[in-house]
Amino acid sequence: MLCLGVFLGVSSCYYDKEFEIEIPDIPDNQEVLFRTDIEPLFSRSGKDCTQCHNESADLNLTIGNAYNSIVQGGYVDAGNAEGSLLFQRAPGQNHPLDVGFILDVNDLALIKEWIDRGALNN
Ligand code: HEC
Repeated sequence: MLCLGVFLGVSSCYYDKEFEIEIPDIPDNQEVLFRTDIEPLFSRSGKDCTQCHNESADLNLTIGNAYNSIVQGGYVDAGNAEGSLLFQRAPGQNHPLDVGFILDVNDLALIKEWIDRGALNN
């Protein structure tokens, strides 16, 4: 989508950008579990968030620590993925830094669904 000129400014371009990506729906009958569907997304070879998001960062996405860090650090608003930093700022959305890879839409869909279903420790 085009930015509508200088009058609306940078924030409108940002707004447009967030809605360019089509995130697929996850069917209600598909289980989405933190341990098996979400946490492993953060430590895959070639797309390894934990190079940076480890014990030396505020957001620690390493296996075994990710849940507490995400929830206690306020990176999710349970039930509201669109309002959660973990979803809004993940690579593929508006990550503050180009890290050379992005999460694909199916990964983002899982994260979104997990948060929308209450960000459970499951
Ligand atoms: C090369 C280093 C690097 C990699 C790899 C990386 N990040 Fe980040 N990330 C950062 C930096 C730096 C920031 C901004 C400072 C901060 O908030 O920690 C950031 C910020 C974020 C934020 C926003 C936090 C906030 O407070 O606003 C989220 C969410 C995030 N990263 C998720 C991820 C995820 C998910 C991955 C992997 C798919 C990832 N990052 C990979 C370096 C990285």
